[in-house]
Amino acid sequence: VKRIDLAIFGAAGYGGQELLRLLSAHPHFRVTAATSTRHDGRPVEEILPQLAGFYPGLRFQHPDQALPEGCAAAFLATPHGVSHRLFATLHARHPDLDLVDLSGDFRLKDPDTFYAVYGAEHHFPERARDFAYGLTETNRALVRDASFVANPGCFATGALLALAPLAEHGLLAGDVVLAQTTGSSGSGAEPQAGTHHPERAQDMRAYKVLVHQHQPEIAQELTRLGMAGMGMQEFELVMVPQSGPFVRGIFTVAHVRLPADVDAAELYARRYADEPFVRMRAGTPALRHVVRTNFCDVSVHQRGRRVVVLTAIDNLVKGMAGQAIQNLNLLFGLEETTGLWAPGANP
Ligand SMILES: NC(=O)c1ccc[n+]([C@@H]2O[C@H](COP(=O)([O-])OP(=O)(O)OC[C@H]3O[C@@H](n4cnc5c(N)ncnc54)[C@H](OP(=O)(O)O)[C@@H]3O)[C@@H](O)[C@H]2O)c1
Repeated sequence: VKRIDLAIFGAAGYGGQELLRLLSAHPHFRVTAATSTRHDGRPVEEILPQLAGFYPGLRFQHPDQALPEGCAAAFLATPHGVSHRLFATLHARHPDLDLVDLSGDFRLKDPDTFYAVYGAEHHFPERARDFAYGLTETNRALVRDASFVANPGCFATGALLALAPLAEHGLLAGDVVLAQTTGSSGSGAEPQAGTHHPERAQDMRAYKVLVHQHQPEIAQELTRLGMAGMGMQEFELVMVPQSGPFVRGIFTVAHVRLPADVDAAELYARRYADEPFVRMRAGTPALRHVVRTNFCDVSVHQRGRRVVVLTAIDNLVKGMAGQAIQNLNLLFGLEETTGLWAPGANP
């Protein structure tokens, strides 16, 4: 069995923990370095008891420490602003290291948009073009040939899988409305006011209405798909992110008015027929059926030219760690489902 050694930066965060969980069952990838500043030197299994029995001997190491001999790739499960600095250091030290960045640092191709969205200068704007945008279902060929992957945002994954088939056929026009509800794990392991249980549980609220940082990323990819497909019409994204009273998952409701008479359900069924991780549902998708899996469940509802598309993903799996592994599988010439092929659960 081919063995590929990997490092995870930010391994004690929610994305890092999810990478460790999923990779524990991967037949080819082996984690030989897991970084944490806070837990430097401590056994991974002591800090993360859910992994007990799966990482004997692995200790967290400081992110500045050299990687073990033989590391072929690294995941950067680190905050935006941190990833691009790490990238520079790692690339200088290990020019052959393949990288998947889970942050927003290399997703946006235009430095002015990056500045407007993240409020900081990008240190290596020219590098963003070397990163394949890792929505696997739309960029498989690019990812396969890449050395660097910018893994999509979680909202972006739910939204793009809801809209890509229409974008590819030039069928996005006018207002494209996205109402997306996320669980509290979307904001990471660091406690915040918005994730504090008494504030968050049994409540529902919106945030960053019309100004969420994933909106330009979604627009960038939809435009690229339109250009590469059957052309673009003018459309305006209207994004309303919401906080839901659950821990994992993003439920997306996308509203579109088609500019032509098209059978949308048939279009989606054809587009996603060969996608292993996209499942068409007859009724509504449910978060329960996708949490802890790499699936995106999709349903399409139509009345005349009015179309509503629903998607459900786990923000930490298809929206993050799972998709990152799906991309790394492709990059190393493995079957993209390797280590990820598992069903959901009910209840
Ligand atoms: N949560 C989601 O649903 C989700 C989905 C898709 C993408 N993302 C993106 O993925 C990235 C990680 O998200 P997360 O939710 O896992 O965040 P998190 O739980 O806050 O974890 C981030 C980790 O990065 C490490 N870190 C912080 N500053 C660092 C530095 N200067 N150098 C090295 N390591 C540093 C921290 O670890 P130590 O202090 O232990 O070193 C922390 O554990 C973010 O960019 C986020 O936007 C998140």
